Amino acid sequence: MPERSWSAETLAAQALGDADPLSGGLAPVINPSTNYEQQPDGSYRQGRVYTRADNPTSEQAERLLAALEGGGCACALFGSGMAAATAVFQSLLPGDHVLVSRVLYWGVRKWLAEFALTWGLDVEFTDTCDPEAVAAAIRPGRTRLLWVETPANPMWEITDLTALCELGHAAGARVAVDNTVATPVLTRPFEFGADLVVHSATKYLNGHGDVLAGAVLAARRDPFWERIRSWRRNAGAMLGPFEAWLLLRGMRTLFLRVHRGSETALAIATRFDGHPALSAVLYPGLPSHPGHQIAARQMHGGFGGMLSFRLAEGAGAARAVLGAVRVFRRATSLGGVESLIEHRRDAEGPSSPVPDDLLRLSVGIEPAADLIADLDAALSLLVGPR
Ligand SMILES: Cc1ncc(COP(=O)(O)O)c(C=O)c1O
Repeated sequence: MPERSWSAETLAAQALGDADPLSGGLAPVINPSTNYEQQPDGSYRQGRVYTRADNPTSEQAERLLAALEGGGCACALFGSGMAAATAVFQSLLPGDHVLVSRVLYWGVRKWLAEFALTWGLDVEFTDTCDPEAVAAAIRPGRTRLLWVETPANPMWEITDLTALCELGHAAGARVAVDNTVATPVLTRPFEFGADLVVHSATKYLNGHGDVLAGAVLAARRDPFWERIRSWRRNAGAMLGPFEAWLLLRGMRTLFLRVHRGSETALAIATRFDGHPALSAVLYPGLPSHPGHQIAARQMHGGFGGMLSFRLAEGAGAARAVLGAVRVFRRATSLGGVESLIEHRRDAEGPSSPVPDDLLRLSVGIEPAADLIADLDAALSLLVGPR
């Protein structure tokens, strides 16, 4: 059923705008039932049998996320972002060639390195920011999937989605975009030709650091989509109804949170770009960022709430700043209402390719002045007040 033709922001604020048909309540309801009653004639009232396959609370959250990503896409929620991402890879066939961004969330990279090989996938990493590198690595007829994250964790590199989709489609490959960081508020990958969109809904979509969830969306309900849905059902990767309900509640404030985080991240990046304690501020909203022009084309209304600092004096200085902040919370993850700071190399472990002078910042909804004062004080310990 097509959703109302309201703006995405209104659909989110009103959780699609349907009052509960039984009570008239405006807040979405939770349906925790694991099973559904069979009628005497053997049928099921709404076609649902068992909640590992279908659940009405998840379906409402799925319909809302599909409306936000646009393009009449289909959506399936999963128990985590990793469950969603791996469902896509596990729906490929042994021998399929997969081209993946060199810079991406380390959990996906680690899973690909440890499990995809035994699954029989032929995984190759490439610089997806460079269309020539992609064109050279792609194997027409053998490459089945291009997987990209943009902005990409934790260097915030930008891939040109239009160029990537043209290359992928010309070679007969699907293009999957991990849209966790941009969110549909800033980028809707289907508009650039993507075939699949993946989210860690744990991050901005829920936004309150209290739900683990993931999502896969598909531009078409084709046999590959059916394989992904079937994987979820058979592997038991479904999101629970309480988590789906919390996610639905979180998405109602998605636009406010993402816009606020983006504005503050830009203010922080602008304020600290050129600071003597830093060798680089990595943020696609800065005109000096190599991907800025592309980001300006494919991100609308902001450049996101994620940025990284590289410390001029190296790892010791990064750890000193980490220890000195008082408003930023020292924790992993991203996309919540509170601002977080993390030493990514330490979080990822010794095999991490992330430079050890890098601190990753997830900007929340606190006032910019508090966050800037906090970072200013911590950086002043290295070079004195400015
Ligand atoms: C960009 C990105 N994709 C996927 C994931 C995995 O999501 P989850 O932790 O919900 O399994 C994360 C988690 O940090 C992420 O940042």
